[in-house]
Amino acid sequence: MRGSPLLGFLLFYPLFLQWGILSYGSVAAQQGTWYDYTAYTECKRSPEAALYRGGVIKEGADTVRETTVGSSSPAFVLLNLTATTIYSFSCWVKINRGADSALLKARLSTGDGVLNCIGSSVVKRHCWSFLKGGFVLDTASQTSLVFFQNADGKPIDISLVSASLQPFSAEEWEMHRNNSISRKRKRAVAIHVSDAEGNPVSGASVSVEQIAKDFPFGSAIAKTILGNSKYQDWFVERFNAAVFENELKWYATEPEPGRLNYTVADAMLRFVHAHHILVRGHNIFWEDPRYTPAWVRNLSSADELRSAVSSRITGLLSRYKGDFVHWDVSNEMLHFDFYERRLGNTNASLEFFAAARAADPLATLFMNDFNVVETCDDVNSTVDDYVARLRELMRGGAANLEGIGLEGHFSKPNLPLIRAVLDKLSTLHLPIWLTEVDISKTFDRQTQAKYLEGVLREGFSHPGVNGIMLWSALHPNVSCYQMCLTDDDLENLPAGDVVDRLLNEWETKWAGGETNDHGIFSFVGFLGEYMVSATYGNRTSETTLSLSQGDETSHLNIQLQY
Ligand SMILES: *[C@@H]1O[C@H](CO)[C@@H](O)[C@H](O)[C@H]1NC(C)=O
Ligand SMILES: *[C@@H]1O[C@H](CO)[C@@H](O)[C@H](O)[C@H]1NC(C)=O
Ligand SMILES: *[C@@H]1O[C@H](CO)[C@@H](O)[C@H](O)[C@H]1NC(C)=O
Ligand SMILES: *[C@@H]1O[C@H](CO)[C@@H](O)[C@H](O)[C@H]1NC(C)=O
Ligand SMILES: *[C@@H]1O[C@H](CO)[C@@H](O)[C@H](O)[C@H]1NC(C)=O
Ligand SMILES: *[C@@H]1O[C@H](CO)[C@@H](O)[C@H](O)[C@H]1NC(C)=O
Ligand SMILES: *[C@@H]1O[C@H](CO)[C@@H](O)[C@H](O)[C@H]1NC(C)=O
Ligand SMILES: *[C@@H]1O[C@H](CO)[C@@H](O)[C@H](O)[C@H]1NC(C)=O
Repeated sequence: MRGSPLLGFLLFYPLFLQWGILSYGSVAAQQGTWYDYTAYTECKRSPEAALYRGGVIKEGADTVRETTVGSSSPAFVLLNLTATTIYSFSCWVKINRGADSALLKARLSTGDGVLNCIGSSVVKRHCWSFLKGGFVLDTASQTSLVFFQNADGKPIDISLVSASLQPFSAEEWEMHRNNSISRKRKRAVAIHVSDAEGNPVSGASVSVEQIAKDFPFGSAIAKTILGNSKYQDWFVERFNAAVFENELKWYATEPEPGRLNYTVADAMLRFVHAHHILVRGHNIFWEDPRYTPAWVRNLSSADELRSAVSSRITGLLSRYKGDFVHWDVSNEMLHFDFYERRLGNTNASLEFFAAARAADPLATLFMNDFNVVETCDDVNSTVDDYVARLRELMRGGAANLEGIGLEGHFSKPNLPLIRAVLDKLSTLHLPIWLTEVDISKTFDRQTQAKYLEGVLREGFSHPGVNGIMLWSALHPNVSCYQMCLTDDDLENLPAGDVVDRLLNEWETKWAGGETNDHGIFSFVGFLGEYMVSATYGNRTSETTLSLSQGDETSHLNIQLQY
C-alpha cells in the first residue's frame, strides 16, 4: 500500500575492520547457470548446501561462521559488482545467543551511504533458517559490503553457512523467464487430421486461433466504468479478470448501520459477468481501522461488533455466492488487527475464514497484504511472517483453500528479491496472486512503465503465480490511485503501452500450416481456448480446443466431414 520508510544508514568503513570480515567474493561472469527456484520455509536441524555451490562466494561456502549482529554487522565484502547484473543472494542462519527468535535483514552497501535491504528471514535458536533475496545495482561498485542486522537492534550471536551470491546477466535472466513461460504458460499441441475412414490426411490446411486466455490478467475497476461505454470496450478488449476497487468494501455497501446498498456493486457485477470476466471479491473485512466504517468503529461492545460482523459476512456472501472467484477475507492482517483487538479474540480472522468457507464454498479465500513482495524493509510483513500466518490459518483447519494475495504496490522493484519471495511462498503450494500491482506515482510515467514491465514479467514467468491484477481503476478527472494505464480519453500512457505489448506477447494470435506425412500439424501455444479448423479439398471440420497445463504434448483428433 504505502511506500516503506527508507532507512538511510551511515556507513563507517573502518567499522568492518573491527567486526571482522567473514568472507570475500570476487565476481566473475559464469555462463550457463540456471536460476535455482529452491527455497525453504521450515527451520531445519541442519542447513542445506549453498545454492550454486556458493556462486561467486567461493571461499568456504561450507564453513560455518559466527558473528555478533546488532544494528549492523558486516559479513561479506563483494568486489567488482557490475551494473545491470542480477545478483541472487542466499544463506542459512541460526541464532546462538541473545534471543530465541529475531528478524534478520541482509543489507547491501555500495559505499554511497544507502543500505538497501536485499533479503530477510525470521531466524531462530537451535535450528537453521533460509534467507533468500538479491539485488541489482544502477552503477558498478568496486567494493560492496553485505551487512546483517537484527531488526530490533539488539545484539545477537548468529552462525551463518552456505552463503551464495550468483550473478545473472540480463539476457540469462530473460532466457530463464522464457523457459519458465514455455513450461508453465504454454504447451505443445499435435493436431491429427483424418478422413471419414480414419486415415491420416497429409497436406490438409490447419488454422488455429486463440479465443480465450487461461492466465487471469486484469485490473481494478471503479464505478466510473458504469455507463462509460468507451471505458467498458477498452477493458473488455484487454482483460479477463477484474476486481472492484472500493465498491464492495464495508463502508461502501453499508455506509450506515442496516442501510445496505448493493446497487453499484450489482451493476458492476452485471458488467463483468456479461463479458465473462472473472472477478475477485475485495474485501470482506479490512483490518485497518481507517477503512472500517465509522459506525463500526463506534460500536461500544464486543457483542454489538460480533453481531455486525456476522451480518456482514453472511449478508455479503449469501448475496454473491459463487459470483466472486476469490474473497479477500481479512485484508492487511499482517499490519493491522482491528477486529482481533476489538473482539478480544486472537482467533477472529480464523473464524472469519471459517464463516466465509461455509457461506461460499466455491470461492478461494485469500489473505492480502502489502510490502511482502515489494520490499524486505517492512518489519510487519516479511515473507516468513506471511508464511507463518498462513500455516496458522491452515492449522486452524478453518479453510482448506486459502490463496496468497500480494498487493504489489511497488516503488522501485527489486526483481531478484521479488523472485526469492515468490520462491519462499511457493513452498506452501497455495495459489499466489499479485492482486494490486502498480508503481508509485513519485516516478515519472516512463519510469513507472519500465518498472511495471519488470514486475509483470517476473510475475507472469514465476511458476507459483496464478494471476495478476493491476491497481489502475480509472477515475476521469481524478486520475488513478498511483498509476494510470490511459488518460481520460482511454489513450494509452506508457504503462498502458507496456500492458498492451505484454498482452500481445502472451497470446497465440494465430497459427496455421499443412499437416505432414502422418497427417499431423503441430504448434506450441499459450494455454487457453482455441478454435481449430482443418480443410482438405471440399472437406472441412472445425472444433474447439481447451489447452490446459500439462507436461506432455496435447493431442487432438479432427475427422474431416463433407
Ligand atoms: C577488481 O577490479 C580491479 C580493477 O579493475 C582489479 O584490479 C581487481 O583485480 C579486480 N578484483 C577481482 C577480485 O576481480
Ligand atoms: C524471450 O522471449 C521473447 C518473446 O518470445 C523473445 O522476443 C526474446 O528474444 C526471448 N529472449 C531470450 C533471451 O530468449
Ligand atoms: C444506493 O446507492 C445508489 C448509488 O449510489 C443511490 O443512487 C441510491 O439512492 C442508494 N439507495 C438508497 C436506498 O440509499
Ligand atoms: C461516532 O461516535 C462519536 C462520538 O460519540 C459521534 O460524534 C459520531 O457521530 C459517531 N459516528 C458515527 C458514524 O456513528
Ligand atoms: C508495524 O510494526 C511496528 C513495530 O512493531 C509497529 O509499531 C507498527 O504499528 C506496525 N504497523 C504498521 C501498520 O506498520
Ligand atoms: C484459537 O484457535 C486455535 C486453533 O483452533 C486453538 O487451539 C486456540 O485455543 C484458539 N484460541 C482461542 C483464544 O480461542
Ligand atoms: C471532466 O472535466 C471536464 C471539464 O472540466 C468536464 O467537461 C467533464 O464532464 C468531466 N468528466 C467527468 C467524467 O467528470
Ligand atoms: C468433394 O470433392 C470430391 C472430389 O473433388 C467430389 O467427388 C465430391 O463430389 C465433392 N463432394 C461435395 C459434397 O461437394
